[in-house]
Amino acid sequence: MARSYRIALLSGDGIGPEITAVARQLLEAVSLRHGFALSFDAQPMGGAAIEVCGEPLPASTLAACRASDAVLLAAIGSPQYDTLPREKRPESGLLALRAGLGLFANLRPVTIIPALIDASSLKREVIEGVDLIVVRELTGGVYFGTPKGRVDVEGRVRAFNTMAYFDDEIDRIARVGFELARQRRGRLCSVDKANVLDVSQLWRERVEALHASSYADVELSHQYVDNAAMQLVRNPRQFDVLLTSNLFGDILSDEAAMLSGSIGMLPSASLGEGGPGLFEPIHGSAPDIANQDKANPMAMVLSAAMLLRLGLGEEAAAADLEAAVARVLAAGYRTGDLMAAGCTLLGCQAIGAKLLEALEAVEA
Ligand code: IPM
Ligand code: MG
Repeated sequence: MARSYRIALLSGDGIGPEITAVARQLLEAVSLRHGFALSFDAQPMGGAAIEVCGEPLPASTLAACRASDAVLLAAIGSPQYDTLPREKRPESGLLALRAGLGLFANLRPVTIIPALIDASSLKREVIEGVDLIVVRELTGGVYFGTPKGRVDVEGRVRAFNTMAYFDDEIDRIARVGFELARQRRGRLCSVDKANVLDVSQLWRERVEALHASSYADVELSHQYVDNAAMQLVRNPRQFDVLLTSNLFGDILSDEAAMLSGSIGMLPSASLGEGGPGLFEPIHGSAPDIANQDKANPMAMVLSAAMLLRLGLGEEAAAADLEAAVARVLAAGYRTGDLMAAGCTLLGCQAIGAKLLEALEAVEA
């Protein structure tokens, strides 16, 4: 029996459908090449789901995701939903999906593609050779902590959230970070604000205890989040694995994305304990360029590659997709976000066609 997998496909909002179409074509092509079968189960999510049933994460979408081998999500969100109550907004659907699938570990790798080195707003000598990964805790911290809300206090309005972690929530994400460090260059930098926050003091204690008990071979360092933000643009090569809480990782991963030239290049994987993983670009739905064939589909295609590698164990197929992206960039084809002198500007669909050609040309 040939291997076969079911992919839940959530194209979401804005540029989502355009980049999803490209990723799907490439997944189909690469599965043929490598002798496995993919079936796609397209489901509404985010604003697209609000339009059909008034909720950003319909129960049927969550059920389809749970029944899949892996979930590929493009992007969600649009300014038209900004005035809805928080629980009805597209972003709440994404948080509910992460929580519903138990995806506590978010992996956001940042590598520099040589052809793009001059697309970064940072100098070549700062970013050359950068190869880091942000390991972000994804189902806890201030995103999910209670109590939260808004109250009237003697005529003033007070709004609040709670940044909280249980010791075991810190341990499980720290383990993911340490294990990854072992497979990479053996260095883990844990990010916190232990000089100010109680929750960060616990974070640091647990990371240190785990290091001492089980991962003494990994070189551990700690940075306060403000310093980490500065070090990321000052000397990003110092980092191998960056371990962060939910909010700090959200902020630092957008910053780290810019090292690579464009946030349009970065994929991510969100994993839990067994069960399907969720794979998505770290960029948003870019409503300003939606439906204009201007989107860069590469982060989506690279997310599909992470899905193949980490979600399905199809390493060779994953490597082929990554090679196709590198080839198209090396040949000078660019979407608007990466455009540079001497390169050829193409739209989303045309980049998709070039990626398919490049895939055919990659040695099987
Ligand atoms: C991300 C995004 C999300 C987050 C939003 C869309 C809820 O910014 O994946 O980084 O804050 O986690
Ligand atoms: Mg973010």
